[in-house]
Amino acid sequence: MSGIKVFAPASVANLAVGYDILGLALEKPGDEVIVKKGETDGLVISKIVNGKSLSKELHKNTAGLAALRLLEHLGEEKMPIQMELHKKMRLGTGLGSSAASAVAGVMGINEFLGKPLTKPELLRFAVEGEQVADGSWHADNVAPSLFGGIILIRDNLSLDWKRIYVPEHLSLVMIHPFIKILTSESRALLKKEIALEDMVAQTGNLAALVAGFYTSDYNMIRRSLNDHVIEPQRKKLIPHFDAIKEIALKENALGFSISGAGPSMFALCENSFITDNIMTAVQRFYSDKKLKVDVFVSGINLRGAYKY
Ligand code: HSE
Repeated sequence: MSGIKVFAPASVANLAVGYDILGLALEKPGDEVIVKKGETDGLVISKIVNGKSLSKELHKNTAGLAALRLLEHLGEEKMPIQMELHKKMRLGTGLGSSAASAVAGVMGINEFLGKPLTKPELLRFAVEGEQVADGSWHADNVAPSLFGGIILIRDNLSLDWKRIYVPEHLSLVMIHPFIKILTSESRALLKKEIALEDMVAQTGNLAALVAGFYTSDYNMIRRSLNDHVIEPQRKKLIPHFDAIKEIALKENALGFSISGAGPSMFALCENSFITDNIMTAVQRFYSDKKLKVDVFVSGINLRGAYKY
């Protein structure tokens, strides 16, 4: 059996008002996995490209564990398989890097075995794999990376999810300052209780954001992308967060917030004229401060993970 190659995209989790329950897939970057017939019984990670800090041990690697759990489910854990992981994005960026690897792991195995399971059936194995990264069970990066588009997770435990309509022309400016934030630390700093008035404001915005997506109501989307709970607690981890947000909103972004657990930030925009203006202004800001940053524009990937 010859080898197969799959791609799983980066993702933006939370989307300001949907902590752990809302995420979208980016067109780029993304991780790749190549799966081939192995030389010994069982699954081995034969090669990791661009992931020096990553372990080849299956239980310590998000792609490895996700793939192993799928093979166990199918009763194929003895099948000789080798897997190569090609990392196209760094870890700890807030772009769902570990989730993309987990998704690529299950997709790769599933395609190699002739697609015994559907994408929705693969979801729980990918979430299990991603747990290696931060120890918590949430699908807001994995589900969009697997399915594409904007995904709402009603309940993480039962993985009850729903695809949300994506209005035309939406695109994002992604801003990745060169600092690393561990998701586990970014989660640990959050307070466990929220004030009732914040709960009311947040649920109002979340419901209105979803309604705004379904009706392509850009003004409703703009009014809704306003996080009362998570961003105020996490933004201190990201130098110049308020200044960058001010630039993006002045240039007419629909909204701006932290991508996942950070440090990347996103500006959601209604057209490419606005994204270009934000990209230029943000690059100028970092260059004036002599700070390194990676700024790029991406559309929303509607296809999710795929085989080449
Ligand atoms: N919802 C998660 C968080 C995404 O914000 O911690 C990062 O894995």
